[in-house]
Amino acid sequence: MDEPALFAAPGAGASDLRALREAAATCTNCHLYRDATQTVFGAGPERATLMLVGEQPGDREDIEGKPFVGPSGRLLDRALNEAGIDRSRVYVTNAVKHFKFVARGKRRIHQTPKADEILACRPWLDGEIAAVRPEVVMALGATAAKALLGPSFRVSKQRGEVVHRDRLRLTATVHPSSILRGPDEQRAVAFADFVDDFAAVAAVLAGPPTPGADS
Ligand code: URA
Repeated sequence: MDEPALFAAPGAGASDLRALREAAATCTNCHLYRDATQTVFGAGPERATLMLVGEQPGDREDIEGKPFVGPSGRLLDRALNEAGIDRSRVYVTNAVKHFKFVARGKRRIHQTPKADEILACRPWLDGEIAAVRPEVVMALGATAAKALLGPSFRVSKQRGEVVHRDRLRLTATVHPSSILRGPDEQRAVAFADFVDDFAAVAAVLAGPPTPGADS
């Protein structure tokens, strides 16, 4: 598998996260800042053991300036809750920090970010990982999974696999929006599978720590 390099800054922490957040607020690394309302940086504790990485902020997130506060976020919260994971202890962020959309009348329709836009945002994500130093990073959906686990990673086949990289454990599940968009009759099963993926991560976190995780 192609393995994207992860930025590793030993000793990173709260002040680094604050500095990153401030710097990201004026990011012009790609064109997406022009139409978005604001940079939506990650949110959560500076020392979370679990980091969740989505694709990019949606319409609601763009307005509120926080990740996963819209419909996908509500589904995510329910799944975390059912898996016994307290969202307030999780650092939640996105591979891309600006909302990419096309305007259709009054609606803003989500557009999947391109590889160069994901790459332009990569320093922020790597910086967040280096500052928070989570034990497990879980990608939500294909965009984040490819960014973290490599372009050949297939969420449909490889969800739940745990890859050890440096001091991190990386894994992936589907994006909550795929459950919301999926057929009604499959939603309950898709949601139960989603919860199972989080329960598996909770079990990993409850097990022995990653070697060197806190060094
Ligand atoms: N979808 C994402 O990938 N991230 C968000 O923050 C909201 C919706």
